[in-house]
Amino acid sequence: MIMCVKPTKKLTGRLSVPGDKSISHRAVMIGALAEGDTVVKGFLPGEDCLSTVNCMRALGIPVTASAEDELVVCGKGLYGLREPEDVLNVNNSGTTIRLLSGILAGQDFTTVLTGDASIRKRPMKRVTGPLKEMGAVILGRAEGELAPLTIRGGNLRAIRYESPVSSAQVKSAVLLAGLFATGCTEVVEPAPSRDHTEIMLQAFGAKIETGSNYVRLESEPVLQGQEVIVPGDISSAAFLMTAALIVPQGRLVIDDVGLNRTRSGIIEVLQAMGAKIEISNVALAAGEKRGTITVESSSLRGVSVGGEMIPRLIDEIPVLAVAALFASGVTEIRDAAELKVKESNRISAMAEGITRLGGRVEELPDGLRIYGGYKLKGARCQSHHDHRIAMAFAVAALQADGETCIEDAEAINISYPGFMEVIESLKD
Ligand code: S3P
Repeated sequence: MIMCVKPTKKLTGRLSVPGDKSISHRAVMIGALAEGDTVVKGFLPGEDCLSTVNCMRALGIPVTASAEDELVVCGKGLYGLREPEDVLNVNNSGTTIRLLSGILAGQDFTTVLTGDASIRKRPMKRVTGPLKEMGAVILGRAEGELAPLTIRGGNLRAIRYESPVSSAQVKSAVLLAGLFATGCTEVVEPAPSRDHTEIMLQAFGAKIETGSNYVRLESEPVLQGQEVIVPGDISSAAFLMTAALIVPQGRLVIDDVGLNRTRSGIIEVLQAMGAKIEISNVALAAGEKRGTITVESSSLRGVSVGGEMIPRLIDEIPVLAVAALFASGVTEIRDAAELKVKESNRISAMAEGITRLGGRVEELPDGLRIYGGYKLKGARCQSHHDHRIAMAFAVAALQADGETCIEDAEAINISYPGFMEVIESLKD
């Protein structure tokens, strides 16, 4: 589907964004391993999280929708999953294939996992490597690097895993496998990645110890079904925040957004660029901070971002690059080579679209250098079937001359169904 977006001078209103994608996935998976029902309120009904629901159903877990954004997961306990009758398809969802691999590594049966063309290109050894070290038998294409993956689990032993990358998917896969291993599982990361798995496992009753860059988990806990109230996804809010910052008359109030420190780097970086962003109504529910974000049009200046900040805003880099186009001076994003192995190569996808729009950008081996202040002209941009690339260009289009058309824009349904309708409704 081609989606065309016209510029606007105004973007105002008060709204909330759909539920956090990472937390929605985890609520379904951890709920499935718990005893009794888990009620997930504010669940993200995006395609990625629905892939997780379908996989858990195929593994014998009843999941019923009581509303579009509310699910009941009927947990069967740690050893309640059953061998699926067919291949499990995760579609576009990296979180599903990697976290589920951890759970399946602990199961005494065989599963085959596959996904769409993007998933079948993404690196899996980062997950299959440590899971094999724990004792799972895993086969995949390219010596275990690529899906489809076949997993024969069971009889795991705990390991201490020093991950070469800061990846919550790797950390979570090892921890979820650790639930079934003998002994204490430990994961050490170069810089802290999002910690939703640790927070949720603890809320469900697991014994977890965390330090600045390590997590230790005791095996075979009794997990108790819970009510999980999912906050709005800051990664989705970031598109609206940036849109409000760059249009001349922008003011948005976004309620109940997740503000977990491992995810809120985008707020700090935009503020450092001069963005007027205020946080209010801060609350904590089941260990996850949330609050209201108020943002208004601001004159922005370029910044340098790298190091430990990168995992704290990894999914927001496409839209940060858009903010940088409207900032004075140069913005440099480094230490972000992970962007090359996301749903698309986000470094080259952003550089390509920015260039088509008339912006100035240099592709770096581990990031982007963006020269702000060049007037954008509407163009045809490719999403590369990547939801965040499509939304980033839709935001840039709000301040380009003329119309911008984005190819394969249905990818937006992965994480933010209704995004474009929301933008249109805020224009007047
Ligand atoms: C996610 C972790 C991150 C992030 C992804 C969601 C998660 O990936 O980019 O969108 O829910 O654990 P990595 O673990 O590959 O960094």
